[in-house]
Amino acid sequence: MRHLLSGGDLARDEALHVLDTAEEMARLTTDRTVKKLPALRGRTVVNLFFEDSTRTRTSFELAAKRLSADVVNFSAKGSSLSKGESLKDTALTLEAMGADAVVVRHWASGAPHRLAHSGWIRSSVVNAGDGTHEHPTQALLDAFTVRRHLGGLDGSRVAVVGDVLHSRVARSNVLLLASLGARVTLVAPPTLLPVGVEGWPCETSYDLDAVLPVSDAVMMLRVQRERMNLSGGGYLPSAREYSRRYGLDGRRLRSLPDHAIVMHPGPMNRGLEITADAADCDRSVIVEQVANGVSVRMAVLYLMLGGSEPAIGGAE
Ligand code: CP
Repeated sequence: MRHLLSGGDLARDEALHVLDTAEEMARLTTDRTVKKLPALRGRTVVNLFFEDSTRTRTSFELAAKRLSADVVNFSAKGSSLSKGESLKDTALTLEAMGADAVVVRHWASGAPHRLAHSGWIRSSVVNAGDGTHEHPTQALLDAFTVRRHLGGLDGSRVAVVGDVLHSRVARSNVLLLASLGARVTLVAPPTLLPVGVEGWPCETSYDLDAVLPVSDAVMMLRVQRERMNLSGGGYLPSAREYSRRYGLDGRRLRSLPDHAIVMHPGPMNRGLEITADAADCDRSVIVEQVANGVSVRMAVLYLMLGGSEPAIGGAE
């Protein structure tokens, strides 16, 4: 694994190897007083964030530190980007500092691909979310969470609901979950399904009430209000109408099978795509998704930077 840019980058066996390694990372670091492993000692991971993040950024930082890597956090705010520095010059600067892996979040779809394949840097590149395109480590942590709860992914039915059009999480999940054998249904109003979705390895529906009773996991997506005008932008009649047709509330929770789990990548719009009682209910695994993100990102960095097998054999 030189770079991780897309949920489709990993073949089934490779994806399962990442999930199994993440299980091992969780086993070695959860509920231990000292959570550090020496696996990436002497390696440098740069978190390059051109767009805001809470979960992804902190969990990549924690993951790299738990593997004993040196971590540099670089955000667009407060950097020379505000003086007009280009992505290329920023990349060359990071290369000069000896970065082994660059974790990049960018508002522009394709920026991580450009960084990985331009020849500007030799480091590995991890896509931490690019525009409306992809967010592969979110998909890996979602697959990890579903597998833990359902016992496997083959044949599991996952509903991904809401603003698919603007969702990098949805695209990466469809690609990854399909290669892991899950059956994904995207549920959204027609205006929030992307052009060409019929070519994706999933089904689509406009009817959430029909899909929920046959779902093992329901993944609610954030309505990306910053990318649309809710009061007349053409995507939705109104926020209230959206909640009524596509929001997860107490009534809809009761239509799920008993074993089904409720997911959300965060950040949530409580009261819009999900009510507070649905977000906080017993079957919600939203906080667990965040915790699993650290183990999954440890596995990605470890496999990418070639950590030696014996080095994960014990905590420091
Ligand atoms: N799920 C996710 O990407 O959250 P952040 O934007 O907080 O990183």
